[in-house]
Amino acid sequence: MTLPTLLSSTADVRTFRAASRGQVAFVPTMGALHDGHASLMKLARERAGADGTVIVSIFVNPLQFGAGEDLDRYPRTLEADLKICEREGVDAVFAPGVEDVYPGGEPQVRVTPGPLADILEGAVREGHFGGVLTVVAKLFGLVQPDIAIFGEKDYQQLALIRRMTQDLNMPIEVVGAPTEREPDGLALSSRNRYLSASERQAATVLSRALFAAQGRAEYGVPAARWAAMAVLKAEPSVEVDYLAITSPDLGEPSPGEGRMLIAARVGTTRLIDNVSLNIGG
Ligand code: PAJ
Repeated sequence: MTLPTLLSSTADVRTFRAASRGQVAFVPTMGALHDGHASLMKLARERAGADGTVIVSIFVNPLQFGAGEDLDRYPRTLEADLKICEREGVDAVFAPGVEDVYPGGEPQVRVTPGPLADILEGAVREGHFGGVLTVVAKLFGLVQPDIAIFGEKDYQQLALIRRMTQDLNMPIEVVGAPTEREPDGLALSSRNRYLSASERQAATVLSRALFAAQGRAEYGVPAARWAAMAVLKAEPSVEVDYLAITSPDLGEPSPGEGRMLIAARVGTTRLIDNVSLNIGG
């Protein structure tokens, strides 16, 4: 297996991109890679084909972290990350420093995410999605991918990135990938490593609540919500930020396809998860 080409500067990316062949599939990440990220790389490889090019970025983007969030303690594991990229047949890894991405300090011009960023995660994390969309727009401008892969794990982020490419006419196909889970249901996340053994145990309540709701959704929205609440009540150490049932595009739910999203604090660690619902009418 050939080692991925390591690209450290924006100039490196431009040069690599100019020489790349076929469909370019791009997987943006903040590193601390796990099997969830690896599943995105597999999908990228599939979509790009053997003749195409897979590019992964690893950049912990300060712009999307609020004051008091975990920017400083966010895990940075480049060596191990590169091994995973190699295993997944990634062609190039773009791992810039903050000064490469933001040479003049914080950018003056930014992406405004609109009303979809005021609800759910956006209501709790002010400025978060503006920071995400700004860095993703910059990465899209540098990498110029044909296809970009994002996880359903961060469902609101995926919805906002789809919306950005539509509203700003970016010629990129955004592909959503299903959430990878531990055998006990916990969604894989770089933040799971913060959990103590007892918190790790308690953290399964998020997916258990969502799956319980999935099982009751055929009886309507209140039944699904009640099923999730009953599971959450049995784990009082976990503090719920929000539990929402929406349409697939995060609007009002109606019979048919829907989404249930949860955010909760387990100790000092904030976790999010979501599933699709088949809402009965
Ligand atoms: P990060 O949290 O590293 O996630 C990178 C990508 O991996 C995202 O698209 C996320 O949804 C996906 N992912 C995370 N956990 C997953 C899981 N268990 N199963 C499937 N996919 C999963 O999301 C970000 O980074 C950043 O906001 C970024 C888009 C890179 C912008 O800075």
